[in-house]
Amino acid sequence: MSQRTLVLLKPDAVRRGLVGEIIGRIERKAGWTIGALELRTLDRAILEQHYAEHVGRDFYEPLMTFMASGPVVSLVVEGERVIEGVRALAGPTDPITAPSGSIRGDFGTITRENLIHASDSEESAEREIKIFFPGLS
Ligand code: CMP
Repeated sequence: MSQRTLVLLKPDAVRRGLVGEIIGRIERKAGWTIGALELRTLDRAILEQHYAEHVGRDFYEPLMTFMASGPVVSLVVEGERVIEGVRALAGPTDPITAPSGSIRGDFGTITRENLIHASDSEESAEREIKIFFPGLS
């Protein structure tokens, strides 16, 4: 089942020079392709849309500050079961408990600065793609 998903390489990944490493892992999955890609610093308005479900959580404001702290790489990845697949490559939210071999497990230590975001369902993917790439059909 071919799908598409929205992936963000967070400011920590860009600052630490891990963009190539992370995109390389995605590109090496057979048949997955990059449908759109952009480097930019996100403003409050786009972050409020993206993180609407987390309003009121104790980590919300520090997360917003962190996500606006430097450029982010946003990309749309397309291919077979890519929603489940990119989340498997990323590993669970907390990098300390994420297994070695996953992106978060290999490179992260802090839950907020966990390197990568990937849509968690087809519905989220379509919503998030519209936020980051409104011109993409
Ligand atoms: P992600 O799953 O991409 O989207 C929500 C983000 O909020 C998550 O990655 C982390 O960056 C951050 N986050 C989630 N839970 C916590 C937490 N308990 N403490 C700090 N940050 C969190």
